[in-house]
Amino acid sequence: MSAIEVENLHKTYKLGKVEVPVLRGVSLDIASGEWLAILGASGSGKSTLLHLMGGLDRPDAKSGGRIAYDGRALGDLSANDRNQFRRDHVGFVFQFYHLVPELTVLENTLLGAMIRLGRLGYLREAGKLRDSARELLGKAGLSHRLGHKPAQLSGGERQRVAIARALINDPPVLLADEPTGNLDQKTGAELLDVFETMRGKTERTIVMVTHDPKVAQRADRVVEMADGLIRQTTPGGSVGV
Ligand SMILES: Nc1ncnc2c1ncn2[C@@H]1O[C@H](COP(=O)(O)OP(=O)(O)O)[C@@H](O)[C@H]1O
Ligand SMILES: [Mg+2]
Repeated sequence: MSAIEVENLHKTYKLGKVEVPVLRGVSLDIASGEWLAILGASGSGKSTLLHLMGGLDRPDAKSGGRIAYDGRALGDLSANDRNQFRRDHVGFVFQFYHLVPELTVLENTLLGAMIRLGRLGYLREAGKLRDSARELLGKAGLSHRLGHKPAQLSGGERQRVAIARALINDPPVLLADEPTGNLDQKTGAELLDVFETMRGKTERTIVMVTHDPKVAQRADRVVEMADGLIRQTTPGGSVGV
């Protein structure tokens, strides 16, 4: 079974009286453990799709389509359950890192766990979580930066922290929105190496959106987004019609 099913997704933004259709029937099956890249021009609706997939926003109320994880539809969950689901199952990496400037690298990484577990829950597991955070940051090549603040890091290092933060809860799904969009080509390629390392032997599913075909090629499969639709593809990343 697919880890993630996206069926006939519609999303229309309203700007005053003007309706702007952005997703016009997006369908996509993503297998468990797959690294999928969604390639599309700026404004093609990539972030909108990723936000819907992560339960950060909802499809159109009428005939907006369906998103399901292992057969469980997000639309059937209450707002509380959807938030809980997101905390437990989904990690996010964004183009602009979204780190907290006052916190160190280690603290920023642990933040994801604090949010999921609450203060008391976090304190109960603090020792174990700190070990996990150190291990993740080690894999990201940041062992020598644990006490640094984001302002003392390069862009590539900041994004590595964001990846560690996204993975501290060991989510089965990682959603990445232009993770290399703010990095030069070499730093971006190194960051994708970290993605590769962080996949490890787990069955983690990665969905990454990008406007850069070179970045997309690093994934197992590439689909293209245009005119509010996903063009279906053949296996191996070559795009068909
Ligand atoms: N909250 C919003 N309100 C109105 N229009 C929006 C909103 N978010 C995005 N859009 C519009 O939807 C289109 C797709 O945006 P987006 O999903 O951010 O595309 P991408 O990530 O591919 O650049 C763009 O034309 C954008 O201006
Ligand atoms: Mg975007």
